[in-house]
Amino acid sequence: MFTCTATIDPDFVIAPVPRRLFGSFVEHMGRAVYGGIFEPGHPEADADGIRLDVVKLTRELGVTAVRYPGGNFVSSYRWEDGVGPVAERPTRLDLAWRSIETNAFGLNEFMNWARQADVEPIMAVNLGTRGVEDACNLLEYANFPGGTRWSDLRVAHGVREPHAVKMWCLGNEMDGPWQVGHKTATEYGRLAAVTGEAMRRIDPGIELVACGSSNDRMPTFGSWEAQVLDEAYDVVDYISLHAYFEERDGDRTGFLASAHAMDQFIDGVVATCDHIGAKRRSRRKLKLSFDEWNLWYESRFAGQENLSWARAPRLIEDEYTVEDAVVLGNLLMSLLRHSDRVTTACLAQLVNVIAPIRSESDSVAWRQTIFFPFALTARHARGDVLRVEPVAPTLHSRTLGDVPAVDVAATRDPETGELSVFAVNRDETQPAALRLRLAGAGAATVAEHLVLGGADLLATNSEQVPDRVVPRSSTGHQLDGDRLTVELPPVSWSLIRTTGRPAGA
Ligand code: AHR
Repeated sequence: MFTCTATIDPDFVIAPVPRRLFGSFVEHMGRAVYGGIFEPGHPEADADGIRLDVVKLTRELGVTAVRYPGGNFVSSYRWEDGVGPVAERPTRLDLAWRSIETNAFGLNEFMNWARQADVEPIMAVNLGTRGVEDACNLLEYANFPGGTRWSDLRVAHGVREPHAVKMWCLGNEMDGPWQVGHKTATEYGRLAAVTGEAMRRIDPGIELVACGSSNDRMPTFGSWEAQVLDEAYDVVDYISLHAYFEERDGDRTGFLASAHAMDQFIDGVVATCDHIGAKRRSRRKLKLSFDEWNLWYESRFAGQENLSWARAPRLIEDEYTVEDAVVLGNLLMSLLRHSDRVTTACLAQLVNVIAPIRSESDSVAWRQTIFFPFALTARHARGDVLRVEPVAPTLHSRTLGDVPAVDVAATRDPETGELSVFAVNRDETQPAALRLRLAGAGAATVAEHLVLGGADLLATNSEQVPDRVVPRSSTGHQLDGDRLTVELPPVSWSLIRTTGRPAGA
């Protein structure tokens, strides 16, 4: 057993917990839409084909916002194909995933689903094969009240009230050679700026996201962000980040410390944004939208170029282990501690495609292991995110260098004084004793202590055994005045919630 210490002080506030931090992503890809959220004829589907079992799990997951319709898919998508009478919609080739797209599901069906799932829709526009005009047409269709060509078309399609979509992504991963219509940073930055400017003339209240790098291993990472923002800084509100983690080069410690890599990635993008802001003497600070993040065993994926044309094929339906859930819980802690700048994040994706929720056609839907840390964090990260600086021994990772063995994040609800502490032990063999000093916020009792990990690290949930992995309750804690000691098993994620005193009590 080794020891690690930290102070949790309600005065050290990073930012209020941004609700959009618990976003997710639904792309027209694989079985995310068809056979995922939408399956007409399924016993659990409503009259519109929406799978209500998946809606129920989406609500339980605590997802607050969902980005749609892509992803790589959006870069050759014609949104008009997906509205109007279904029988008249064309079947098209989706160039991103070599799939046959029937367009049976489109914008209005998504908005209907989003209402049922109680999530805010986030839309992406096609800046791969299209540009200013089509983005404006889509925004007019979605958000303009009526009396114009595109808004009246929406009304004619049976949707009287505008969808009032607030957040719009200007393209997707435009730096990636795999992206249809990919561009240089300057080409894209200019297109994003003029598209965003034109869109704002239609709806000044929208929030705009420029594409950052597809990941921080891209050779252009850093300079891409700088060049794009040289063109678009004054127009956009956010720059995007995408990252998928897996064990690389046999470095398990590095994988367990993926949140450390996420911290560095975010810090790098913040520095680049602020560099461009400083150069422009701007008073605005850009926010970050981490609008694709997850674990993805990409090395097992044959690649887009090797797919054959099919309708809603099974694509990257990764099965997640307990160890994956520990890493995912830790990634959420990284997002929380950057909540002064990262105010939107989307777990990619929601159903079937690298997802916390799985479903089978004509069968059940179930929770993958990664469902639990997400749902628990979304539910219990309330109020303010507190700055926590744990003092812990380090582990050596081949790819990341020395990384702390233990990570801690905390939130506190000033209304109730309730504290939620999230902790991860990355050590593979030793438990950790986490000694917390609860400064100025003496906790009354430990209300809940849940653990994932510590054993059965390769266990998974499946259609046949959907509840093999669930978080377990722990008694491995001791509260003595303002001292809380928590035992963290090797390779584990823990949530400890205390009741407390509201501010001033
Ligand atoms: O989420 C799967 C894919 O990953 C998305 O389509 C793309 O944006 C990213 O490369």
